[in-house]
Amino acid sequence: MQDALKSLKQSALEDINNAKSQDELEAIRIKYLGRKGKIAETTKEIASLPSEKKPNAGRLLNEVKTLLQEEFTKKQGFLQQQGVGSEKKQDLTMPGYQFPAGRIHPITQTLKDICDIFKHMGFAIVEGPEIETEYNNFEALNIPPEHPSRDSFDTFYVTNKLLLRSHTSPVQIRYMQKNTPPMAIVVPGKVYRPDAVDASHSFMFYQVEGLMIAENTNFSHLKGVLLEFGRQLFGEATKLRFRPHFFPFTEPSAEVDVSCLMCKGDGCRVCSQKGWLEVLGAGMVDPAVFKAVNIDAEKYTGFAFGIGVERIAMLKYGINDIRLFYENDLRFLRQF
Ligand code: DAH
Repeated sequence: MQDALKSLKQSALEDINNAKSQDELEAIRIKYLGRKGKIAETTKEIASLPSEKKPNAGRLLNEVKTLLQEEFTKKQGFLQQQGVGSEKKQDLTMPGYQFPAGRIHPITQTLKDICDIFKHMGFAIVEGPEIETEYNNFEALNIPPEHPSRDSFDTFYVTNKLLLRSHTSPVQIRYMQKNTPPMAIVVPGKVYRPDAVDASHSFMFYQVEGLMIAENTNFSHLKGVLLEFGRQLFGEATKLRFRPHFFPFTEPSAEVDVSCLMCKGDGCRVCSQKGWLEVLGAGMVDPAVFKAVNIDAEKYTGFAFGIGVERIAMLKYGINDIRLFYENDLRFLRQF
């Protein structure tokens, strides 16, 4: 009896081990543990044993039974995990499952396009926090507390001295504090403004900041870099126009327009008949900014720029309302 149980256990364990599907495993379970299975058969045999042998045989049988039940459960779990279902065969000629693939958001794509162009010109990509100190966002960028240009920015304070950054320019400060020139970086990121939302304004939008500092950097370098950027982004025929402007952190400063993509400068509805579209602000880093970060303004010069990402995306994709970017309407997003 003992030997018979031993070989029963052995062959059951082997069968369980070899089972390749839930169906096979179930057949094996019936063979051993089913109502008319081998265990049941052996139970009957024990009944006909002389009574002094019964208890021992019964105990052994129970042990084997419990062990097999445990092994079945284990193997069942294993097969489930392996994803081996009860299908008998897989038809490999069936069409595959289609997984709906997501898409890159047009803003993300534009950020990447912009950064890639600068990356290939040797600029490093750097990021900074969206909650910024008042000092980095304003003072260090030569915007003192009483300065009128704070008005359009001054907003979204988290505490007395911390606010949601109103531009990516404070990352210039962070980077200059930790690194020594020469340096060339671009900074993609979100910024926040107290603007009322309409077709061309949002309280949150994206910028890409640029900064390059070295000995003898001058305004022609700025023009050269931006022209190359404009041409790579909008095409070889793109022209740039620099209009004098004021920014506290650059001197001289300019607003920069690209020739209109639609009419190539002749004037159309997109550019309001001007032939030009404003896309960024730029200038030579103001010595006051260098002073704030302890860079020797006698030795180094640099240029900086700030690109409006939504503006560029709207021009590239022909989108006429900035709000479309943020509404997560799939009918809009699926077009890209
Ligand atoms: N920070 C400016 C803004 O948000 C954009 C800007 C203009 C950035 C000129 C610059 C710059 O680095 O040189 O309006």
